[in-house]
Amino acid sequence: MALARFEGKIVLITGADGGIGKTTAERFSEEGAVIAAASNNAERLAELEREFTDRGRPILTLTTDVSDPGQVAEAVRRTVESFGRIDVLVNNAGIAWEEDFLEITPEHWRRMLDVNLNGMFFVAQETAKQMVRQGEGVILNMASTNGLVGEAKYAHYNASKGGVVLLTKTMAIELGASNIRVNAVCPGYIQTQMSEAIDDPAFVAEYIRTKIPLGRVGKAKDVAGVFAFLASEDAAFITGETIVVDGGQLTF
Ligand SMILES: NC(=O)c1ccc[n+]([C@@H]2O[C@H](COP(=O)([O-])OP(=O)(O)OC[C@H]3O[C@@H](n4cnc5c(N)ncnc54)[C@H](O)[C@@H]3O)[C@@H](O)[C@H]2O)c1
Repeated sequence: MALARFEGKIVLITGADGGIGKTTAERFSEEGAVIAAASNNAERLAELEREFTDRGRPILTLTTDVSDPGQVAEAVRRTVESFGRIDVLVNNAGIAWEEDFLEITPEHWRRMLDVNLNGMFFVAQETAKQMVRQGEGVILNMASTNGLVGEAKYAHYNASKGGVVLLTKTMAIELGASNIRVNAVCPGYIQTQMSEAIDDPAFVAEYIRTKIPLGRVGKAKDVAGVFAFLASEDAAFITGETIVVDGGQLTF
């Protein structure tokens, strides 16, 4: 029997039209949630809205650049205006690209941090204000295994995701008294648009052989399922945690 843990719950997802975000939106929707979907890509959001509407699934789309605090405040305001509350935030929007440490320009450094860390903070803080008013809520921040260990050519990305891990722990400490749980998910190699740049088949085969005990790369649904667990009552006593979803890559 399919689970239906989020019947009528309001779930705000950023980056909801991307690989992991879209699968996560579908997962929560299948379990009964109403989705508020934010992203800076209006075209893909419109497509997502069509797909959901065609299947009779409720969705509100919000064209939002998470690095702009004004746009974030407006997205949260519109969500609350439409549905009265936000039960779960999946703070997922992010960007990544490879770049040698010595080549990173101040502009590139700032953009990575602006979206992946500052944006995460703006969305989390604005949503948490609403959750404090409600007296409950769940916040799930998208980090990465790159927030726990280093990887060459990703200094700006790694720094942004490392920041998300400690932001998560600090939020958990401060928001626990308001009955708000805050956790982070740290995926390893998940095949999505973001990973396309490194999806050369020979590279992927060697990567799997040498680095991933479970013998495959991850799928968006591997991460969506963990978000759903963490948002559910089964995770009622888990906060400030970072859950690694990497097929065992960080075990050695
Ligand atoms: N794919 C992986 O292997 C992997 C591994 C670890 C962590 N992650 C993280 O998972 C998250 C989702 O990644 P994905 O693989 O689904 O990538 P993706 O490129 O498919 O999706 C990224 C989403 O973020 C949105 N986005 C980008 N910049 C934005 C901005 N400024 N404002 C609002 N939305 C913005 C995009 O429109 C898109 O919806 C990211 O935070 C990423 O760092 C991915």
